[in-house]
Amino acid sequence: MRKQILVTGGTGYIGSHTIVDLLENGYEVISADNNSRSTPGMLEGVEKITGKKIKNYKVDLCNFDETRAIFEENTALVGVIHFAAYKAVGESVEKPLLYFHNNLTSLIHILRCMEEFSIQHFVFSSSCTVYGNPDAIPVTEESPRKNAESPYGLTKQMGEQMIEAFAQAHPSTRSVLLRYFNPAGAHPSAHIGELPIDRPQNLVPVITQTAIGKIKEVVVFGNDYPTRDGSCIRDMIHVCDLAHAHTLALNHLFEKHSESNCEVFNVGTGNGVTVMETIHAFESSTGHSLAYRIGQRRPGDVIAIYANNDKAREVLGWIPRYTLNDIMTTAWKWEQSIKDLPKHLELRSHLLN
Ligand code: WQD
Repeated sequence: MRKQILVTGGTGYIGSHTIVDLLENGYEVISADNNSRSTPGMLEGVEKITGKKIKNYKVDLCNFDETRAIFEENTALVGVIHFAAYKAVGESVEKPLLYFHNNLTSLIHILRCMEEFSIQHFVFSSSCTVYGNPDAIPVTEESPRKNAESPYGLTKQMGEQMIEAFAQAHPSTRSVLLRYFNPAGAHPSAHIGELPIDRPQNLVPVITQTAIGKIKEVVVFGNDYPTRDGSCIRDMIHVCDLAHAHTLALNHLFEKHSESNCEVFNVGTGNGVTVMETIHAFESSTGHSLAYRIGQRRPGDVIAIYANNDKAREVLGWIPRYTLNDIMTTAWKWEQSIKDLPKHLELRSHLLN
């Protein structure tokens, strides 16, 4: 009997890639996504890859009754993976209340429904941003949660703490918090990928949109940092490796081996690359030279962070398989595949739904 999982944020970037991986590993999936930051078309891409049509509940998870109705209708649900949240660091600085309301209210509603419908297995989309500017790198799961650099990061820290308290109050539940490093790249088929609604904030989509001509040049936000080439250091993790970590986390929860019912895992490659190295990796992987210039530092940027991923390797059996070259070639293939999707169509399909 296939285990049925609710994936919130299922039409989003990481959500859609995770649905593919879950389906390929014997799970049954339903999605809940109000498409405020994504397009339902992404599930068509999932169907092209897996041959499976996924039902999406177009629901605002900040509306408790609408959220509860999903659980009432799907009595076979045995687990939830919760991606649905806003994640633009800069926007969160300008609109902190929007982020606290959206990211935390939706989480509380999901936890309330898990409690009411006795759903025992939960995977939460967290982020390395909870480490702030770490004192020592690579960071392990025991590295302290430092002051969040943005309200977005604060919602991830608060979310973790809420789930820890929920786990304490509900010993029969089992939760995993996955701390993502920098997700990038796309499914090799190019049927799904990252689809920024407005101008992208993250480095790799900025690179690919520059290469395809949507953006004039990459602005490197500072090259005067205390790093090997002066630019920031990040741990770029391929979205398919990240997706598989969610499947392995669920498998782990159903196997019920660990002493704690709320566990944290870093999901990063363990390799730190600088912004300049990332730009040059794109150029060497794709043969496309990139226009870029050095600009001012971006407020809130962490100088350097990358993962110690020993725990995910040892406990989840997770091994990252995609390289930085794979990130660049798959991201570029995806960018080229959506080139002819006129901007207004991207927006219209997103607004129409
Ligand atoms: C990476 C590096 C920038 C754009 C954030 C969140 C994290 C996760 C991923 C959700 C930084 C530099 C970027 C550009 C640049 N969010 N950069 N020029 O800030 O590390 O992480 O997104 O899952 O939780 O905090 O990612 O890609 O924005 O930046 O120089 O045009 O690239 O300064 O050093 P970040 P990013």
